[in-house]
Amino acid sequence: MQFRGRDIISMRDFSKAEIEYLLDFSLNFKESDHALKGKVLSTLFFEPSTRTRLSFESAMASLGGSCIGFSDPSVSSIKKGESLSDTIKTVEGYCNAIIIRHPLEGSARLAADIASIPVINAGDGSNQHPTQTLTDLYTIRKSKGKLSGLRIGFLGDLKYGRTVHSLSLALSSFSNKLFFISSSALSMPDSYLESLDRSSPTEHTDRLDEIIGELDILYVTRIQQERFTDPLEYKKLKNTYHINLDMLKRAKPEMKIMHPLPRVDEIDTSVDATENSLYFQQASNGVTVRKALLALIIGGAK
Ligand code: CP
Repeated sequence: MQFRGRDIISMRDFSKAEIEYLLDFSLNFKESDHALKGKVLSTLFFEPSTRTRLSFESAMASLGGSCIGFSDPSVSSIKKGESLSDTIKTVEGYCNAIIIRHPLEGSARLAADIASIPVINAGDGSNQHPTQTLTDLYTIRKSKGKLSGLRIGFLGDLKYGRTVHSLSLALSSFSNKLFFISSSALSMPDSYLESLDRSSPTEHTDRLDEIIGELDILYVTRIQQERFTDPLEYKKLKNTYHINLDMLKRAKPEMKIMHPLPRVDEIDTSVDATENSLYFQQASNGVTVRKALLALIIGGAK
């Protein structure tokens, strides 16, 4: 399978076989500190990030490459009125690949259409976050030993949550049962539900307490304040769900809790020390998967 030079924009662009190849490659990747020697990665972050940006930077450093970029667009010439298109046309002359996070849906696809080097989507608005999804799939497979036949609940902000949109799309092609748990104001948009593979049945509820006992994985998400136009609406919804030790008494002992992070109040810190917690391992796996991905895309690994 050939990934050299490829853009990573949406999980819609990947077949099941390609996903399995990427996960196998990540698992078996034999790291060398010169695999990306001389390669330069640009990280263009128009929105805040801790995990995605730093895990890409860590991956590049481990493989002998280097990073340039910005974590705040106000320090770039965007501040002076430069367009995204001109920024991409300029930056592509400085590096071997571009990582972009931008609040506008479709911005990563636009950047990929402009650039002649690979572009990796690090989150475009509420749309997609494909490298988070590959990390999530890797984490699920490592923890459960499989990607099929699981009962997976998505909780929280399903309307604006790009990690949920990407991951549910990928998991649906592996024949799982998907539970969408949210208040009606933050339910999964029809456009994403219509894209799910029909081999995976879905159920919708606002009652986590009623179905938590059925789940193998609970994928929790933050209510995303930055996507709300009405602050009062955010205030009304922000404390809808709070996972605590009491709630876990209803869950199967082997149920795993995942979260793309950052968390605000949706998981009590007392849960961190339980066997159910998988979210910090998930964050750590981001480096493993991104190393493998970069080695394939700009390092020419196979
Ligand atoms: N999961 C994730 O995208 O985290 P950051 O916003 O910290 O990059």
